[in-house]
Amino acid sequence: IQAEALDNVKKANNLKELQDIKVTYLGKKGSLTSVLRGMGKLSKEERPVVGEIANKVREAITNEIEQKSEILEQAALDEKLQHEAIDVTLPGRPVQVGGPHLLTQIVEEIEDLFIGMGFEVREGPEVETDYYNFEALNLPKGHPARDMQDTFYITNELLLRTHTSPVQARTMRQFNGNQTVKMICPGKVYRRDTDDATHSHQFTQIEGLYVDKNVRMSDLKGILDKFAKKMFGDDRKTRLRPSFFPFTEPSVEMDISCKVCNGSGCSVCKKSGWIEILGGGMVHPRVLEMAGYDSKEYTGFAFGMGPERIAMLKYGVDDIRNFYTNDVRFLKQYHHAK
Ligand code: PHE
Repeated sequence: IQAEALDNVKKANNLKELQDIKVTYLGKKGSLTSVLRGMGKLSKEERPVVGEIANKVREAITNEIEQKSEILEQAALDEKLQHEAIDVTLPGRPVQVGGPHLLTQIVEEIEDLFIGMGFEVREGPEVETDYYNFEALNLPKGHPARDMQDTFYITNELLLRTHTSPVQARTMRQFNGNQTVKMICPGKVYRRDTDDATHSHQFTQIEGLYVDKNVRMSDLKGILDKFAKKMFGDDRKTRLRPSFFPFTEPSVEMDISCKVCNGSGCSVCKKSGWIEILGGGMVHPRVLEMAGYDSKEYTGFAFGMGPERIAMLKYGVDDIRNFYTNDVRFLKQYHHAK
């Protein structure tokens, strides 16, 4: 029995076969077990002899099975490990990550530039009163520049702001008429326009306001020129053209010279070689007075620009609706544009 059992154990290929062998020899109905069971029939003298032999055989078989079992278990584990091994040389699956919207990036870039020149960032309400959106900005009721068609009115006195300029009036009020104001204000504005490639019923503006004793037009020119060069590249020139806004006097529009492409991006170029990027001017004395400032003591400049337009010029975006339709194929191109 021992020789046969040990031979079988040696030949066993896996744990299942080994278990079967164990049952065959040592199980309840196993061959060695039946030898032990049959001992009762033996004589007193034979019993210890046979018993000793049978025990030795059992021990030998058990030992052999245990040793073989360890070997087979190790082999099974090795195989499992090999099977489950990770091939670190396989290319990884890319993880999709989002990024800031192009408009967010542009607004933050503009904010950073003006923060660097000492401006603080402020905000104002999108639902605005007729007073701050128009009246406080020298646009009394009935003024032709208050084209009803352009304004989303909510009630007679409440509307969606058509520009960020009301934040000029609100901020000056808060400063109590006797302090320096140096702020920019980004935010959403609304106009009753039919959407097309260059018009949108909702878009973004960034307002700028600097009020102090002795603020001059040359300060406006200098700061805006610095801004344009930082935004579009040192090789850009700027020029101011006379314009009209009821809340500034004199009023200007600023153009930048356009190059087709440079290190900071590409711009759509008009035949003139100049393209308009913002409006501004010296704060109208009446606007200062209405906000509680003495216009003989204080002067100021203000400007307003559209970040969509800046982004369109800087990155060659040809349709303003791209900013709002949120097609990821468009947006992805500008992840980390800066
Ligand atoms: N609010 C003006 C506009 O929306 C821009 C502007 C702001 C002009 C400040 C002058 C001063 O067109």
